[in-house]
Amino acid sequence: MEKLELKNIKNVLLLGASGGIGGALLEHLLTCNNDLQVYTLSRSPIERARVHCLVAPVVNEQSLSQLMAAYAAVKFDLVINTIGYLENELGGPEKSLRDISEEKLIEYFRVNAILTPVLAKMIRNNLSSEGYAFVCLSAMVASMGENELGGWYGYRASKAALNSLMKNISIEWGRTNKKSLVLAIHPGTTQTRLSEKFNTRVTHKIHSPQEAAENICQVIFGTEFSRSGSFLNWDGRTIAW
Ligand SMILES: NC(=O)c1ccc[n+]([C@@H]2O[C@H](COP(=O)([O-])OP(=O)(O)OC[C@H]3O[C@@H](n4cnc5c(N)ncnc54)[C@H](OP(=O)(O)O)[C@@H]3O)[C@@H](O)[C@H]2O)c1
Repeated sequence: MEKLELKNIKNVLLLGASGGIGGALLEHLLTCNNDLQVYTLSRSPIERARVHCLVAPVVNEQSLSQLMAAYAAVKFDLVINTIGYLENELGGPEKSLRDISEEKLIEYFRVNAILTPVLAKMIRNNLSSEGYAFVCLSAMVASMGENELGGWYGYRASKAALNSLMKNISIEWGRTNKKSLVLAIHPGTTQTRLSEKFNTRVTHKIHSPQEAAENICQVIFGTEFSRSGSFLNWDGRTIAW
């Protein structure tokens, strides 16, 4: 039964720390471990003790590379990518094929899926040899097995692509390190900027960002390295691909 332990970790890379869930994760991790240092890349500054923030107007391969150059000497025990969006200046999720646009689909995939393997490539040699977790926030709607409603083409497909990419990363890294935990986690419906417009018709529980952060940490620190490559719900349940 080997797992990562929150009390033993020293360095966390957290992307999306300016967001609802990312911000709550930042607070939760720093509160639970007084020795922890958190590193981040953000479009807006994050000023807090024990947080090292590189500000860049765009998060892409170039700014991720600047981030890794700035913290080249750091060995990370935990990497969490919470960056993601459902609606931006290009519009909101598609209700039907009528709403599809090439530009929108490309941007969904760039932000919600592509940034993660680009980060994985760059961070490979900065992961602790003692054991690490590499986590991204996916979404239940990415599940093809549980899709009964349709719509939301770009968001669903980009998160499904993210799951596929995470599975592949888990296989590559698992060959050389058995203490490697690569997880795609659905945080549960959470009251944030991303979801507020869409939560009005939700009949299941809506979590606060603090609840979501606690649940995500329970999943990360409660899951054995042997389950690397899983797509997990906020309560630890495996979600169908
Ligand atoms: N809330 C939910 O119910 C829910 C459900 C399932 C999955 N999720 C997933 O959970 C993650 C966190 O979402 P949240 O609810 O916390 O949303 P949020 O409050 O809107 O936070 C989103 C984060 O992603 C960043 N981001 C968005 N687009 C970006 C871009 N183009 N470039 C760089 N950074 C960008 C934001 O940065 P800025 O502050 O600079 O905009 C922010 O840090 C997302 O991946 C989302 O898909 C959320």
